[in-house]
Amino acid sequence: MPAVKVKKNEAEKIKKLLKKEEIYDGKRRPQRVKNYILFPITDPKKAQNLGFEVVDVELPMRPERQIYKNLESFLKEKFTNEELSYLRRYDIIGDIAVIQIPPEIEHREKEIVEGLRRVYPFLKVVAKKGFHTGAFRIRRYSIIWGEKRLTTIHKENGIKIKVDLSRVFFNPRMKGERYRLAQTVKDGEKIFLMFAGVLPYALVIARYKNVDITTVELNEEAVKLGLENLKLNKDKLKGRIHLIKGDVFEVGPKLETFDRVISPTPKGVNALRLALEKAEEWVHYYDFVHENEIRKFKEKIYRECRELGKKCEIKVRKVSDYKPHVFKVCADIKLY
Ligand SMILES: C[S@@+](CC[C@H](N)C(=O)[O-])C[C@H]1O[C@@H](n2cnc3c(N)ncnc32)[C@H](O)[C@@H]1O
Repeated sequence: MPAVKVKKNEAEKIKKLLKKEEIYDGKRRPQRVKNYILFPITDPKKAQNLGFEVVDVELPMRPERQIYKNLESFLKEKFTNEELSYLRRYDIIGDIAVIQIPPEIEHREKEIVEGLRRVYPFLKVVAKKGFHTGAFRIRRYSIIWGEKRLTTIHKENGIKIKVDLSRVFFNPRMKGERYRLAQTVKDGEKIFLMFAGVLPYALVIARYKNVDITTVELNEEAVKLGLENLKLNKDKLKGRIHLIKGDVFEVGPKLETFDRVISPTPKGVNALRLALEKAEEWVHYYDFVHENEIRKFKEKIYRECRELGKKCEIKVRKVSDYKPHVFKVCADIKLY
């Protein structure tokens, strides 16, 4: 088997080059021999043309799970291109994989499960996901492999989040948003977090900043898990989190105002007016908007601000895809 022999102190640089030239053989392990490293390659001629010393050596195969970076790379060898095109994004939440399997590839469910288990050997459950339903935005799931449970502890941004996917909303894809907000917030702020769920936003922000966060959540199961999550993370938090179980539209108006209001608004709910009323300086308002209606969405915010006698600057950012041409967006609103 061909390999290139390179000096140890140049190894990292050359490995990158071999990968860039697409001749690095990721299926085999490199080997160290005294002050040299032998890197497995797939194209000895090209390596020679690049000026490398090529040797013939048996390098051990990597264990299979390291070969597959993701589900797609595992299924590439088994699925047709058409079947691959039906593959949807999946999520790993703690030790649970959740995936949508369209009818066109339902007959391939076994291979999909096998692939997920190969790529993520720590998995204990694989579940098919349905749509979010009801005011609590809970998804429907059916377990297709593993233990019969939908509770798990998910790790994100240095905190632990206990969830029960059959009873509460949780979206691991908002990890980047939570980190962004935590970096935007300043020590000492008073924050109102509406629609708090099991507290992922509050925990990430309180992990990084010494702030006071008041949270409101209506789903009793989410509040219970939120309390557990506070305990799970108590040694890591710089800030304080206060939980209120209740309807944000009843509780919110009775609260004082805050430096910052964050609204991870459930689909179909309009909490913009309340968020603007309760904020003194900043609002981060999440909503679902068609790409052609972003201007209209901004105008609505300007209008609401005017009606409240507040001036504002607005930046609308696309946060994730929701369906074709419709995005989950976040309006970062600076109030004066
Ligand atoms: C889109 S989820 C966001 C949850 C959480 N912030 C997260 O990102 O994981 C919306 C949450 O609002 C809660 N909810 C819905 N209507 C509510 C209301 N009127 N008052 C308080 N919470 C509500 C739901 O139970 C759900 O947990």
